[in-house]
Amino acid sequence: MNELISKLLENEDISLSEWEMLISDESSDELLFSLSREKREAVYGRSVFLRGLVEFTSFCSNDCRYCGLRRSNRNAERYRLREDEILQTIEKGHEIGFRSFVLQGGEDPYFTTERMYRILKDIKNTFPDSALTLSIGELSEDSYRSLKEAGADRYLLRHETADSEHYRVLHPEPMSLENRMNCLYTLKKLGYQTGAGMMVGSPGSSFRTLAEDMIFISKLKPEMVGIGPFIPHHDTPFRAEKRGSVSLTLRLIALTRLLNPHIMLPSTTALGTADEEGQLKGLEAGANVIMPNLTPLYVRKKYLLYDNKKISGDEAAENLEILKSELGEAGYIPLLTRGDYIL
Ligand code: 5AD
Repeated sequence: MNELISKLLENEDISLSEWEMLISDESSDELLFSLSREKREAVYGRSVFLRGLVEFTSFCSNDCRYCGLRRSNRNAERYRLREDEILQTIEKGHEIGFRSFVLQGGEDPYFTTERMYRILKDIKNTFPDSALTLSIGELSEDSYRSLKEAGADRYLLRHETADSEHYRVLHPEPMSLENRMNCLYTLKKLGYQTGAGMMVGSPGSSFRTLAEDMIFISKLKPEMVGIGPFIPHHDTPFRAEKRGSVSLTLRLIALTRLLNPHIMLPSTTALGTADEEGQLKGLEAGANVIMPNLTPLYVRKKYLLYDNKKISGDEAAENLEILKSELGEAGYIPLLTRGDYIL
């Protein structure tokens, strides 16, 4: 096994079956995590980059079987922030020090490319010192180009799984893995700092599909990778499915760090939801980003991707001081700066 870890450290190609071995081996976790921390620290020191997350619409035209915001979920309470509310939310975040923001939403036809263009221009004109990340799903190349021109710096679009059969288990037609991957390659081509990522333990996943994820990540070379455990939502077809494993999620975070020490790796809200200490454990496995929630409290509970999603814990932006002091106590340096990917 140590031989495979050495291969990974030396940047050699790793085959599908070798990835499967790495992913399924519990016995090397301690070694893996300490190597992962060492690699992270060589690039980013003990910094943890904080990004203010604004969940600005819970409308979604997709029907992903795992997600509480899926179109068929009639019980989901839908909301849209007004344009001035989005700006005010960013303003509030900027006041408490954030210089990196993530605008996330379902695939909501109301927010056309023209409308998003206007919103982004507005934000960038008002706060030219801040980095802006979009996470609004699959769009055409023209739309991605125009949003880049409006000032978006980064784009998060998890591929969810790199196995096309598994992708079909999670996503009904007309979604397709092919289109998802094309979007990701387009984002890279247009010069976005691009984020891919997957859920761990989603129904139909296996060590094999996760190995495929690692091979896809090696090929795409994204600047960011979001990895979190699958957590069932009571109003979805996957309500009775098992939650994804926290320790397996941590192992994948560590392996991703070793694959590319420069990568921006969030310790996700899903990790913090599945395990009280999950976000700290994520950092100990090599993550270096946390995304505190800035979404106005009166709608925050409506952005329910999965059951028990945390809304007012240490990850909430109102509790920023608590988060900062906890990170400090654990020996980390919380940073509210843009936090760009270091080449
Ligand atoms: N459990 C865990 N993560 C989920 N996401 C959506 N639904 C769930 C769920 N039930 C993740 C997806 C998506 C991101 C915004 O949230 O990976 O890309």
